[in-house]
Amino acid sequence: MSYYTCHVMIIAVGHSDGEFSIFSADCFDPLDPTGNISVTFDIYQRTDNGYLARVTLQNYYQYRHVDKPGWKLGWRWANNEVIWDMSGAIATDRGNCSSYSGSQMPHSCKKDPIIVDLSPDVSQNRSEHCCRGGLLSAWSIDPFNAFSSFELEVRNVGDNPLGQAPNDLTLMAPGPGYTCSPLLDTDPSVSSDFGGLRQVPVLRTWKSTCAYSSFLANTLPVCCVSLSSFYNPIVTSCRNCSCGCREADKSTTSCIRPGPLSRSNEDNTIEIVECTDHMCPVRVHWHFKNNYMNQWRVKLTISNYNYNKNYSNWNVLVQHPGFTQQTSTYSFNSTKLPTLGNQDGVSLFWGIDYYNNVLLHFDKAQVGVVSTEILLDKDPNSFTVSNGWAFPRRIYFNGENCEMPLPDKFPMLPNRSSTLRPTYCGFTLLFILLFLPLLHPWL
Ligand SMILES: *[C@@H]1O[C@H](CO)[C@@H](O)[C@H](O)[C@H]1NC(C)=O
Ligand SMILES: *[C@@H]1O[C@H](CO)[C@@H](O)[C@H](O)[C@H]1NC(C)=O
Ligand SMILES: *[C@@H]1O[C@H](CO)[C@@H](O)[C@H](O)[C@H]1NC(C)=O
Ligand SMILES: *[C@@H]1O[C@H](CO)[C@@H](O)[C@H](O)[C@H]1NC(C)=O
Ligand SMILES: *[C@@H]1O[C@H](CO)[C@@H](O)[C@H](O)[C@H]1NC(C)=O
Ligand SMILES: *[C@@H]1O[C@H](CO)[C@@H](O)[C@H](O)[C@H]1NC(C)=O
Ligand SMILES: *[C@@H]1O[C@H](CO)[C@@H](O)[C@H](O)[C@H]1NC(C)=O
Repeated sequence: MSYYTCHVMIIAVGHSDGEFSIFSADCFDPLDPTGNISVTFDIYQRTDNGYLARVTLQNYYQYRHVDKPGWKLGWRWANNEVIWDMSGAIATDRGNCSSYSGSQMPHSCKKDPIIVDLSPDVSQNRSEHCCRGGLLSAWSIDPFNAFSSFELEVRNVGDNPLGQAPNDLTLMAPGPGYTCSPLLDTDPSVSSDFGGLRQVPVLRTWKSTCAYSSFLANTLPVCCVSLSSFYNPIVTSCRNCSCGCREADKSTTSCIRPGPLSRSNEDNTIEIVECTDHMCPVRVHWHFKNNYMNQWRVKLTISNYNYNKNYSNWNVLVQHPGFTQQTSTYSFNSTKLPTLGNQDGVSLFWGIDYYNNVLLHFDKAQVGVVSTEILLDKDPNSFTVSNGWAFPRRIYFNGENCEMPLPDKFPMLPNRSSTLRPTYCGFTLLFILLFLPLLHPWL
């Protein structure tokens, strides 16, 4: 049963100099079809007039993380419940608690509270697995930081001592785009006790799953792909207007990126990017660098054109048939993802901690860049340099689809293909043949 609907939409954006671009967006990602963020509401203890509950957000998206300023979770109480106390998170508004008097006031009397995470360095009011500043890592990259919990005491629950599930769950993670199913009763979550000897189910569990749709998020594309190869000096740059069109005045160097197309930008942050023909904040460049006998080498470069935004814990997903073979990645962490019956391989790349896991912003005429070389084994049955085979089929940056150049613009093979013969490591081989007998006595 699926509660969220999928949309496909095409928006044509006309522009003053006659160019226009087409953005299509859909909510179903064929490379991560079950991706979701689940919200689990576990009631683990009854109290005199309510219950204690633990709420867990779990990010099951393989390569979509929840970035700064972090998630915001909201719901609407079914009756007149109040949040008496809370640890590991806070409600952003106390609401109207005027019917309560006494020394302790409820934490929030709002009918529709909004909950935000605490920062990692708070020392008070923590709970287990809490306080990640609202950040959730992508499931395939860092599963230990892909979930977060907070605890709350609910009072004034009405006749049913185990309450009634809240309605209208909303998740901003951090922006719009998520749709959550209703919280439904499921089998109670079980924890283990006595070092795993004893199973302890909670009293009641409600669960919801929230799914992302770039259509609902209503944002312009954030990323484009450019290509080059050793056999053609012409670089295939990003398509003009991939992420919007630049101002007609070509002398402007910094451009303001339009926010989400309809909704007003909730954090009031204006994205300023370097003015380019593609207007994308991020560009991924794929350079087919060497063609060896049994292997081939690619240089992958990611550039940040933002003036005021660093991307921490960025990731890039590449779909290419070559990734079904053995690969070595030199300067990024990487993992292969399930191909889901696809002929192509799918590799996920992300930065190495303290080295290049932050993609720095554009600074004084210098683009923030991270790059790596990738060595891929050849499958002699499929490898070819013709018809653009060596170029990626699809690239995502932080889970967002990157705009590819059109296939007829891919770097073309020269007519005389002598330059294309794989370079044979003849010198190395000669060296080994000549000197191996000499080295042998010491080996
Ligand atoms: C949410 O993700 C989990 C883990 O991948 C999966 O088992 C579950 O079926 C997903 N739920 C939905 C509604 O897609
Ligand atoms: C946080 O802890 C302090 C002291 O332990 C307590 O007075 C306060 O009510 C707590 N706040 C919340 C929101 O639980
Ligand atoms: C707060 O709620 C009380 C009733 O519980 C009501 O009389 C009062 O007008 C409310 N105050 C505001 C500001 O809404
Ligand atoms: C992209 O725009 C530049 C000028 O801004 C122009 O020189 C170039 O021809 C355009 N490319 C395409 C493919 O239209
Ligand atoms: C980006 O990171 C650099 C280096 O850590 C820092 O100096 C700069 O202030 C950051 N910029 C933003 C907009 O956060
Ligand atoms: C990335 O790779 C480094 C070293 O190769 C490793 O120490 C680190 O744990 C990896 N990071 C993640 C998030 O897997
Ligand atoms: C390649 O050959 C085609 C015809 O076979 C010709 O039209 C084209 O100009 C040639 N390209 C180069 C770069 O020589």
